[in-house]
Amino acid sequence: MERIVVVGAGHMGSVIAGGLVDGVPRAEVVVVEPSAERRPALDGRVEVTATYEPGPDDLLVLAIPPQAFDSFADGLPPGACARATVVSVMAGVRLETLASALGTDRVLRAMPNLASRVGQSMTVLCPGDQVPAGGVDRAKGALSVIGEVLAVQDESLLDAATAVAGSGPALVAYLAQSFADFSRAAGFAPADALLLTSQVLRGTADVLSEPGATPESLYRQASTPNGTTAAGIATLREHRVGESVRAALEATTERARELAG
Ligand SMILES: NC(=O)c1ccc[n+]([C@@H]2O[C@H](COP(=O)([O-])OP(=O)(O)OC[C@H]3O[C@@H](n4cnc5c(N)ncnc54)[C@H](OP(=O)(O)O)[C@@H]3O)[C@@H](O)[C@H]2O)c1
Repeated sequence: MERIVVVGAGHMGSVIAGGLVDGVPRAEVVVVEPSAERRPALDGRVEVTATYEPGPDDLLVLAIPPQAFDSFADGLPPGACARATVVSVMAGVRLETLASALGTDRVLRAMPNLASRVGQSMTVLCPGDQVPAGGVDRAKGALSVIGEVLAVQDESLLDAATAVAGSGPALVAYLAQSFADFSRAAGFAPADALLLTSQVLRGTADVLSEPGATPESLYRQASTPNGTTAAGIATLREHRVGESVRAALEATTERARELAG
């Protein structure tokens, strides 16, 4: 039976562990969580331990804060990760750092997002050069329990992925706030304003997932000359909203690059 060990039972680790229990019943799922208060929440569904006890051929998922990584790695017995495949979801910890601190080349980096808690993460995964195809498939399989997984070969893409996919839900939520605020100001009850906004986002995402659809084809199709949508799009252009969003994504990418050092 495949063993998957999730280190850290915070927001992300708990969601991944819970998803694995429901979505990969053939796997033995173990959670490593030193905090005694957090352990009971997972007890019963998975085996929870305070420290990592290496097993043969583990898939190790690191869901601890980046600032906890050095002490985690320092606390491992020598060679603990030598036979493991390690997937890190830690923001900004590079493959090289993972490999040298853990003493293995079988390392992968992943950037999930907060929609993982509803099984709708957009996770970008980057394997190190030494990870065999089977290791990439195992990591993809494990992360697919929290949503869609896209594997890339170029690690530098993870900085942009942090902006678009990692921070994406928060950036889109910021824009969605204007829809909800406008709807409330127009007279809708707060819950109805939220319903209008969330269903528009969901419907737009679904339409964009249709074969051949692009953002541009969607808004052009919806904009009849002199119609209502055309008036809205013209105003967005006049206020340079496209440029503002691009600048926000560039700033987020740059910050991800700085944090990764
Ligand atoms: N949440 C997201 O949406 C999201 C998105 C993308 C990436 N990430 C990444 O996912 C990681 C976890 O984020 P999170 O939001 O889940 O953080 P979190 O809620 O703070 O959870 C981190 C967990 O790791 C535990 N931990 C700390 N040191 C540990 C160690 N040495 N061994 C085992 N467990 C340890 C913490 O325990 P204590 O509380 O007792 O310290 C806590 O339970 C971060 O690296 C973050 O960059 C998160």
